[in-house]
Amino acid sequence: MSDTTATRADSEIEFCLAREEDYDDVMAISHGIYSGMDYLPARYHLWMKEPHRLVFLGKRRGRVIALESTILVDGGETVIVEGLRVAPEERGRGVAGLIQSHVAQFIKTHYPRVRTKRLTRGDNPGPQALAKFRVLATRAILTQHCEAASVGRFIDELGVRVRLEGAGQHPPAPPPVTLQREELRSLLLSNPGAVDKLLPAGTIIQDWQPLRPTPANLDTLETRPLSWAADRRDGPAALVLCTAPYPIPQGGGSLRLNLDVFGRDLPAARRVLVFQMERVRGALGGGAAVILNVYSDPALWEGLRELCEGAGGVAGGVRRYREYWEQLLLETDF
Ligand SMILES: CC(C)(COP(=O)(O)OP(=O)(O)OC[C@H]1O[C@@H](n2cnc3c(N)ncnc32)[C@H](O)[C@@H]1OP(=O)(O)O)[C@@H](O)C(=O)NCCC(=O)NCCS
Repeated sequence: MSDTTATRADSEIEFCLAREEDYDDVMAISHGIYSGMDYLPARYHLWMKEPHRLVFLGKRRGRVIALESTILVDGGETVIVEGLRVAPEERGRGVAGLIQSHVAQFIKTHYPRVRTKRLTRGDNPGPQALAKFRVLATRAILTQHCEAASVGRFIDELGVRVRLEGAGQHPPAPPPVTLQREELRSLLLSNPGAVDKLLPAGTIIQDWQPLRPTPANLDTLETRPLSWAADRRDGPAALVLCTAPYPIPQGGGSLRLNLDVFGRDLPAARRVLVFQMERVRGALGGGAAVILNVYSDPALWEGLRELCEGAGGVAGGVRRYREYWEQLLLETDF
């Protein structure tokens, strides 16, 4: 990026806070983002109302050309940045850098207690860009496309497979359980051993949002439509956080199902994953397809792929939507 470009881009861009009525303009710069899996159409209006969140826009001559969102967490000491995007015709000219600098300056000025910036990224920007961050964890992502008409059979087949596997264990694996509020709190707030064993870098990642397990962050998660399940109540080896399916642009209107898998025990992870899919099965109609995203420790990816593609092969209508890809959990001093 040349200085001239930066100066020109800089001098013409105004930054402001996003409002409800900017929705259409934000959508206009968002076509094709994340291979049709963009969460922002479903989340924008929730973001406008969410406590501790600020959504920033960059505008050129009144037209929206960039967005970055922030939420203050960890008792106001950490800012999470999300949703970064630049209008297609403006990319490659430093606009992302400008909105990021503006946002950082705004947060430093208005929230001087913030010490840390945290984010997740789905692309690996290479060692030079990564040198600015601490890479706290790398998560593997399995992305499957399932035609809406095949979802029921797919989940049935997964259920048969994991139950056969569980029954073959000695002693047979107990059925997974949904964790209630107090159970989850006692596991994640009063049991450092469990947190070390289960959470990557001690961090919950809910649909790309990385949160430390603190009472206030768990309060924030409770305001969202999601559920936690485990392979057992005492000393779980796998936890799966399921975000309620939500609409995405893919294929003219599909649903995205996001499952964050915590822990490194593959058989337990497979059972809890399928338990969660069975639980939301009734909400998976209503679109052209379901895009399933499963995030896990990289060591589990192959076993989770084998589970889904084995069942997909029998049920039909299921295919890999993206090859193996990764989610990086990054942090930097602010
Ligand atoms: C990724 C995107 C925002 C980059 O916009 P851009 O204006 O072309 O960005 P530039 O190439 O000018 O890069 C400017 C800065 O943004 C940073 N950046 C680029 N992609 C980034 C990302 N995914 N997350 C965080 N920062 C990113 C660059 O590292 C660079 O930072 P630096 O100036 O501190 O080195 C743009 O291509 C886009 O909107 N893509 C589609 C949406 C998307 O994939 N967003 C990424 C979310 S993880």
